[in-house]
Amino acid sequence: MPAIRLGVNVDHVATLRQQRGTAYPDPVFAAALAEQAGADQITIHLREDRRHIQDRDVAVMRQTVQVPLNLEMAVTEEMIGIALRTRPDTVTLVPEKREERTTEGGLDVIGRRQAIADATRRLADAGIVVSLFIDPDPAQVAASHEVGASVIELHTGDFCDAPTPAIAAGELEKLRSACEQAHGLGLVVAAGHGIDYRNVADVAALPHVEELNIGHSIVCRAVFVGFERAVSDMAEAMRLAGGTR
Ligand code: PXP
Repeated sequence: MPAIRLGVNVDHVATLRQQRGTAYPDPVFAAALAEQAGADQITIHLREDRRHIQDRDVAVMRQTVQVPLNLEMAVTEEMIGIALRTRPDTVTLVPEKREERTTEGGLDVIGRRQAIADATRRLADAGIVVSLFIDPDPAQVAASHEVGASVIELHTGDFCDAPTPAIAAGELEKLRSACEQAHGLGLVVAAGHGIDYRNVADVAALPHVEELNIGHSIVCRAVFVGFERAVSDMAEAMRLAGGTR
């Protein structure tokens, strides 16, 4: 069985740069290092408020990144226009609130069914793979299939941030059953948010998961060990977890 793909999210390299308004550290450089260290995908989130990744980063990475480029974005006309012009390999539609520290909760595919179905069709017609970032909720999984997505990325935040082992076990069970349901519907299953070098073992062992998108923990470790080592350590942790799909 093939190994689970590692998507490295380089947003927080851009966070450091934006903090001081310098030209460094450059997330484009981080993406190149991640690729050299074995990343299977580069993931970036162009937020409406441009707090980390900038339009320039998306444009340059589209030209330089050799592995698939996954653009996370809100369901807005501006973002759909950028995606149609830039043509990332994958677009992951995410909810976005300006005041949040990071993406909180999954997309409400049921509540925004028409807008998400329209965005999915327009992006897919342009040859872009469309992934929906959702909570491990059976109704959201079913709705994702109905609106025409080919991939879902399950939000692992509630599992990763669970305050007690009992709550973590319950969240892991929700993820497991969402994986089974999605696979049964023919959806490709990805997962992400809050994954670190410890909890990755449980996430990588979930059934049918083909890809993990991981950012914050890798960028934090890179401060001490360097970017390539931080990426290869995560790939190794996934391998040790027996992560195959
Ligand atoms: N996947 C999605 C859809 C996200 O929004 C994020 C955060 O930007 C991630 C993965 C990566 O999360 P983290 O930085 O916690 O690893």
